[in-house]
Amino acid sequence: MLTIRLAPRRAVSGVLALPVAGSGSTDLARPRDDVALLPEDAAAEAAALVDDADNPGRAGATQILPRPLRRPERLLLVGVGAGDEAGWRAAGAALARQSESTARTVALPPDCDPSVVRGLAEGLWLASYQFVAGGRRRRRGAITVAVDGHERYADALTQAKATVEASCLARDLTNTPSSRKNPAWFAQQVQQAATSRPELSVTVRGPRELAAEGFGGILAVGGGSATPPRFVELSYRPRGARTHVVLVGKGITFDTGGISIKTLDGMKLMRKDMGGAAAVAAATIGAADLGFRTRITTLIPLAENAVSGGSFRPGDIIRHYDGATSEITNTDAEGRLVLADALGYAVRRLRPDVLVNLATLTGANAVALGKRTAAMYSDNDTLAGAFADAAAAAGERVWRMPLPEDYVAYLASDLADLYSAPTQGAGSVVAALYLREFTGDLRDRWLHLDMSAPSWSDRPVDELAKGATGWGVRTLLRWLATVD
Ligand code: BES
Ligand code: MN
Ligand code: ZN
Repeated sequence: MLTIRLAPRRAVSGVLALPVAGSGSTDLARPRDDVALLPEDAAAEAAALVDDADNPGRAGATQILPRPLRRPERLLLVGVGAGDEAGWRAAGAALARQSESTARTVALPPDCDPSVVRGLAEGLWLASYQFVAGGRRRRRGAITVAVDGHERYADALTQAKATVEASCLARDLTNTPSSRKNPAWFAQQVQQAATSRPELSVTVRGPRELAAEGFGGILAVGGGSATPPRFVELSYRPRGARTHVVLVGKGITFDTGGISIKTLDGMKLMRKDMGGAAAVAAATIGAADLGFRTRITTLIPLAENAVSGGSFRPGDIIRHYDGATSEITNTDAEGRLVLADALGYAVRRLRPDVLVNLATLTGANAVALGKRTAAMYSDNDTLAGAFADAAAAAGERVWRMPLPEDYVAYLASDLADLYSAPTQGAGSVVAALYLREFTGDLRDRWLHLDMSAPSWSDRPVDELAKGATGWGVRTLLRWLATVD
């Protein structure tokens, strides 16, 4: 990971990045008073460049001012928009994308809020992530953040670091090819992370335990694969916790669609179908690293939805952990089947205060909301509001969707309690309504995020690298920080 060092502001040689404020209009864009760090000629040149540039204060906009044979030898003007955390996050991401030798010192305004450091650091670190064959590319190099009273910002930097480390762990897991990433491998990764952290413990159930205890959804979905399913229970139990949160994440290590097989186009990126599992696992590890006070139990049903003589079929009827049955209408609607078991287990065995689910559940998420916004579902306005706030602060987008009562009728099967995949449309909404059937008396303490779309980025943009985004980790950590 790139090193970020906090240091007092002083005259700089080398390359200095100078923030430019302004939320869109050119007249707002002026170099901040950091120009005091500069010799007068450099300050004047910077001011002239800003006057000349088109919208230089837009968050993430950059201009380079070369100053051959003088010091600093180069000025890099970077827009911070409104100067809030999001603006600085965009600025950090833009700086990370400058050629590696570019900005060596970033000047912060005097007396700035610690959120400025958090935004800048998260942007720098998240945008410098790269996954190549064989794993994460190591980034060397250091950036100095010049700010007066830098001790005040150490905490913000620590939070940024833990958040980014968790996000990048989720990205690594999601980017890993499915030839390596089978259910047993994923379970092992979680176990490994837990061994180095005494407050974390893990239990893993394999096919035998799953059969004995009635996890019919996980077994049906995993039945077609040469690599059998697992159910991971990761537990974080800090002293004095008052609230117990259960996180559930969809962990399909590859989704062919099963017998209702996908097209090549629909299948080629389906190694990402465990993005929800990656996010909840990584966020739990992050919560432990940050010493949060909330008790967290994280449930991860893991299966590969494969095609073979052992695959489940359309028309099959399966029995879930809580005893309810589903009539399979499409084997490609597999996520909800494994989640139904996990939700039933949470309700029956764990009885938490809050139940939160993350899943790459439907292609319909992207149809409704595009590539960067998750669909959020909850009957609880307070909980939904808290998540919307957390997502906004974290820089991840959610949009609350309805749970219309009259659509519940679409789920009625005459052979089982529920159809797994009704065909009346509103795919993301109906999937959410299906999941809600398994929340029992926790129905009003449940929140579901369909994050199929934002879990992946097809190009580097803002703080996102190409590929897995780690979506959800930042929102979960922000939200968990507010739970007492
Ligand atoms: N894993 C997919 C959803 C998905 C699609 C995630 C695209 C990320 C990108 C899920 O298992 C699925 O196949 N859903 C079906 C449901 C349908 C059969 C009711 C879908 O969305 O088409
Ligand atoms: Mn599917
Ligand atoms: Zn799937």
